[in-house]
Amino acid sequence: HAPFGGVVPEIAARAHAEKLDAVVADAMTRAGLSYGELDGVAATSGPGLIGGVMVGAMTGKAIALAWDLPFIAVNHLEGHALSPRLAEPVAFPFLLLLVSGGHTQLLMVEEIGRYRRLGSTIDDAAGEAFDKTAKVLGLGHPGGPALERLARGGDADRFPLPRPLLREDGLDFSFAGLKTAARRAWESLDAPAQTDRADLAASFQKAVADILADRARRALAHVDGRATAFVVAGGVAANTVVRAALADAATAAQTRLIAPALRWCTDNAAMIALVGAERLRRGLRDPLDAPARPRWPLDEAAARARPSAGAGRKGPKA
Ligand code: KG4
Ligand code: ZN
Repeated sequence: HAPFGGVVPEIAARAHAEKLDAVVADAMTRAGLSYGELDGVAATSGPGLIGGVMVGAMTGKAIALAWDLPFIAVNHLEGHALSPRLAEPVAFPFLLLLVSGGHTQLLMVEEIGRYRRLGSTIDDAAGEAFDKTAKVLGLGHPGGPALERLARGGDADRFPLPRPLLREDGLDFSFAGLKTAARRAWESLDAPAQTDRADLAASFQKAVADILADRARRALAHVDGRATAFVVAGGVAANTVVRAALADAATAAQTRLIAPALRWCTDNAAMIALVGAERLRRGLRDPLDAPARPRWPLDEAAARARPSAGAGRKGPKA
């Protein structure tokens, strides 16, 4: 997707159709398992760009049908939410900050399948803001990791960028104003040098970390000791500066930040398998006609009441 500066839905769906059988066969070989030894098949069934989701869900269903195995339709966001449990059995309920390319939300994770949203972005997701700013700075796609590398040598105090909603009431997020300010700052430089780029990257990254940490502090005060831990998950959780800011917020609230290992922050199949296993253990399974869903909020009731607020969307805006 790099030559197009982002994920083109049709290309992504075709690539899924072309590559998925080989990827599954490779995974089975590496695991040293035969299909008959599996307890079930879990497949991401949303939310997301529907072409790729359909290819994955159909493949999972076909394997389940052929081998007479239970099928579990997994919400991608539930995968992120439970991803820290790949490393340790984090107890419920915990406070979750989910920060990915399509979502920025604060949730109470009460139990598997029981989520209560406390706040979400009113415009861009944090990862989306990283990617768009990275694009402005001429970095490749996905931009988050590249922007973090560039920012390492930069001065985070050089550009005074805004921190929308900082210290305001509520637990919602906003990144659009920051993204625009970063672009304007870049455009105002004539003949920018590499140090300018690094300084702007560092200033932007610091602003995102400040916003996330501010909302985390508020959320931790809001849940007031009822959470066993503060968990951060999703691609942006791979960012070291973000992790450090959130760890400070957790320490100040006398709780612990739990962040998945870097490879489990960004999209991965292990977290989907984990959700499948946890659901199977609770006797939950899905019918083979379970739909692939472009939108699928974790907290369906609240999302119905507030349909506009970043509810279960992943991928580019329509
Ligand atoms: O969770 P994820 O892999 O996919 C979604 O579900 O969206 O998150 C991808 C997002 C992208 O926007 C990517 O730029 C961002 O996470 N990301 C990062 C870093 N690694 C990935 N953002 C900032 N710093 C990073 N190190
Ligand atoms: Zn994701």
